[in-house]
Amino acid sequence: MKRVTAIYPGSFDPPTNGHLDLIERGSKIFDELVVAILRNAEKAPLFSVSERRRMLEELTAGFKNVRVDTFDGLTVDYAARVKASAVLRGIRALSDYEYELQMALMNRKLRPELETVFMMPAEKYSYLSSRLVREVARLGGSINKLVPEMVEQRLKEKLDPAYKLAVRKTKVGRA
Ligand code: PNS
Repeated sequence: MKRVTAIYPGSFDPPTNGHLDLIERGSKIFDELVVAILRNAEKAPLFSVSERRRMLEELTAGFKNVRVDTFDGLTVDYAARVKASAVLRGIRALSDYEYELQMALMNRKLRPELETVFMMPAEKYSYLSSRLVREVARLGGSINKLVPEMVEQRLKEKLDPAYKLAVRKTKVGRA
């Protein structure tokens, strides 16, 4: 029987509970799901590609058919390299639709045999985005339950170097 591999491309800066929700849904319908972090994003990211990769690897360790990779260049070319026949993307609200439709149709123009599959994350994550998480965290708001605890910790460490120092001192004190 034909095995279906899908890629789930994105920036994941940082990974949110919405991303994980979609990964879980995707892992149920595809034989293999490759979470693919874009390497050559123009914007300056908060987390480096290797930091994002490490976080996603840890967060998806429980899914046997999910792996994490990085890519640059066109998504369709990367999909061909890993022999994926589908691209998974999440649609939260109607506002996502136009951009996602443009991307899906451009990808279809570039590689007609590659299908884009849209899935909806749980409603409770319908307003959630990495950009808002970064902004709220940066301004000191709570992002509890919007990102995994590990990501929350990494955000605190990244945005408040004094917090990282305090955690390190506590650990040294305990040792
Ligand atoms: O998490 P994001 O930022 O919404 O993900 C966007 C992503 C990575 C899927 C998109 O920017 C992309 O596919 N970039 C790779 C370059 C490419 O293929 N561009 C043409 C897309 S139609």
